[in-house]
Amino acid sequence: MFPEITVSLEELRALQLKRLRAALRHAYDNQAPYRAKCAGTGVHPDDLRRLEDLRRFPFTSKADLRDAYPFGMLAIPRERCVRIHASSGTTGRPTVVGYSARDIDLWAELMARSLHAGGARPGDIIHNAYGYGLFTGGLGAHYGAERLGCTVVPMSGGFGERQVQLIREFGARVVLMTPSYMLAIADEFERQGIDPSDTALRVGIFGAEPWTEGMRAEIERRLGIDAVDIYGLSEVMGPGVACEFVESKDGPTIWEDHFYPEIVDPETGEAKADGEPGELVFTSLTKEAMPVMRYRTRDLTRLLPGSVTAMRRMAKITGRSDDMLIVRGVNLFPSQVEEQILRDPVLTGHYVIELTRSGALDDLLVRVEARAVLADEVATRAQMALVDRLKGMCGLSATVEVAVPGAVERSMGKAKRVIDRR
Ligand code: DLL
Repeated sequence: MFPEITVSLEELRALQLKRLRAALRHAYDNQAPYRAKCAGTGVHPDDLRRLEDLRRFPFTSKADLRDAYPFGMLAIPRERCVRIHASSGTTGRPTVVGYSARDIDLWAELMARSLHAGGARPGDIIHNAYGYGLFTGGLGAHYGAERLGCTVVPMSGGFGERQVQLIREFGARVVLMTPSYMLAIADEFERQGIDPSDTALRVGIFGAEPWTEGMRAEIERRLGIDAVDIYGLSEVMGPGVACEFVESKDGPTIWEDHFYPEIVDPETGEAKADGEPGELVFTSLTKEAMPVMRYRTRDLTRLLPGSVTAMRRMAKITGRSDDMLIVRGVNLFPSQVEEQILRDPVLTGHYVIELTRSGALDDLLVRVEARAVLADEVATRAQMALVDRLKGMCGLSATVEVAVPGAVERSMGKAKRVIDRR
């Protein structure tokens, strides 16, 4: 259905070079802040002769986009933008992204490609619980599902009870939402006494937040579905920059014919070889309204060779460089804690990490829900075992609280995993 994904590696590299040249020129000619940056670094689009030459070009950071708030990064007249999205931005101004009609069309196409890779098929009923609005998840997934020829239920987040009701009564075969919200919906299925395997549900395509293999196993087991990873970010497009194939589930394949990936050292910015861990950087190859050149995503991962296609894959994201916790001098990602939690079948993926300071020392508290109300000695055993595993993993002595089901606050979108009171 999507013949472009069958390109050979050689054809792909040639296409990328051709597109990259045009993209650099478009950005240079039409984005004043980018032109100024290039001038400051002493490079010009004509300096790009091979793909590797891209390393000589300047990065774009989130701060660059904020400085241009709201429309200073547009490479086309604002009147030609047919849509605006914005990332919430927990601090300061949001980041604004603009799309031309052609960008929106391409997004629908790449999202359709992603959903197809993830296991959706024309004619499927797709229950879309990503939030609709300025967030790119809802509308991005929506138009992709329509493009693929599916029947979309534009549910958005919220209303746990109705989510379950409509998944069941409309006969959704595919659901789209964040993995943490899927777990909350799994609870709701249980509360209503409905076995998800009695419904038409077969596939979930989950993203917008980091999640571990343990979380995948937990979702697949509780719902009896294939859980597939989809990646994207507003600055680069939205969901559908990369997606896993349901048949391999070996990390999202990056749609390299439209987004050129690199991995760099998050501190020095130095290029890293494929396979080495570091920060993911993307360059738009085909975006019209607001291309980004060497955009620093802050997402930490590795580039892996192609499997189902010649295009490279990314390993599951460990976290964002700005989500890394430093606890008593030890670097820690919430995903590492999640991995340890989900090793124990009596614990669930509903957890929160709380950091406080007593005197000069940081205190790390992990509150995690048990699968059911546990007998005291079972809860104590789970708690002590998790303390040990966390200590073994990172050397930190954490306080672990095994809470009753429902005690940890649910989110409808991206889960908030960390409360830092220091
Ligand atoms: O979260 C786009 C999206 C919507 C992707 C729905 C997938 C599904 P932003 O709100 O701009 O866009 O947030 C982007 O979310 O830089 C990552 O840190 C994180 N993220 C997105 N997908 C994944 C994933 C959307 N599959 C930021 N795994 C990114 C881990 C992810 N983190």
